[in-house]
Amino acid sequence: MRSTVTLHVVSSLDGFIAKKDNSVSWMDSSDVYERGVTDDGAEVIQSIDCYVLGSRTYEHALQLGWPYGDTPTVVMTNRELPSTRKRVEFYSGDLKRLVGEILAPRYENIWLVGGAMLGQSFLRLGLVDEIRLMIAPVTLGDGLHLFGDSGTEQKWHLKNVVAYKNGFVELLYSRPECSS
Ligand SMILES: NC(=O)c1ccc[n+]([C@@H]2O[C@H](COP(=O)([O-])OP(=O)(O)OC[C@H]3O[C@@H](n4cnc5c(N)ncnc54)[C@H](OP(=O)(O)O)[C@@H]3O)[C@@H](O)[C@H]2O)c1
Repeated sequence: MRSTVTLHVVSSLDGFIAKKDNSVSWMDSSDVYERGVTDDGAEVIQSIDCYVLGSRTYEHALQLGWPYGDTPTVVMTNRELPSTRKRVEFYSGDLKRLVGEILAPRYENIWLVGGAMLGQSFLRLGLVDEIRLMIAPVTLGDGLHLFGDSGTEQKWHLKNVVAYKNGFVELLYSRPECSS
């Protein structure tokens, strides 16, 4: 089995994934793009075997209402966090080992869903095979940058673009060596 690590995030047009006050209403859109499609994403979500997230994203997800259902989820943390859900495991330490020895043998379709800190660490280590970037039709002005200093230049191959009726655009890229 060959596993794929997909970095999935929603970004503002100016490259932020969170506001300083952590509010998420910027992800609601009343824009209308006539030629766009509607899609509830159910098929893609059903194909996900495992989620990976940083502890701050985990804590925010618990506050907002857990969006990951009963899909196995690994939360990266150096702290002792209370276990609130039965399919959640905590992990600290080497990310290459996490992917190569723990996740890849068990899961085919691994989704890294943020936040910025964890996403940048995965990118820096070359552990991301695909980037699925959903761009919201809004500029935020400031907040948490999606891409910080992620190390080295990397070319990506554009695999798909979907424009939605609500003005969101989804860009799917893969690393060229993962494209065939
Ligand atoms: N727009 C989107 O699609 C999207 C997606 C995800 C998140 N977000 C937002 O982004 C914000 C959170 O992002 P963030 O960048 O601040 O934080 P984050 O990446 O979610 O979490 C960072 C934390 O993860 C843990 N961590 C990271 N690497 C680790 C490693 N190798 N070993 C052990 N622990 C490790 C550390 O936890 P400890 O401090 O516990 O040790 C670190 O403080 C939230 O506002 C969230 O809502 C937005």
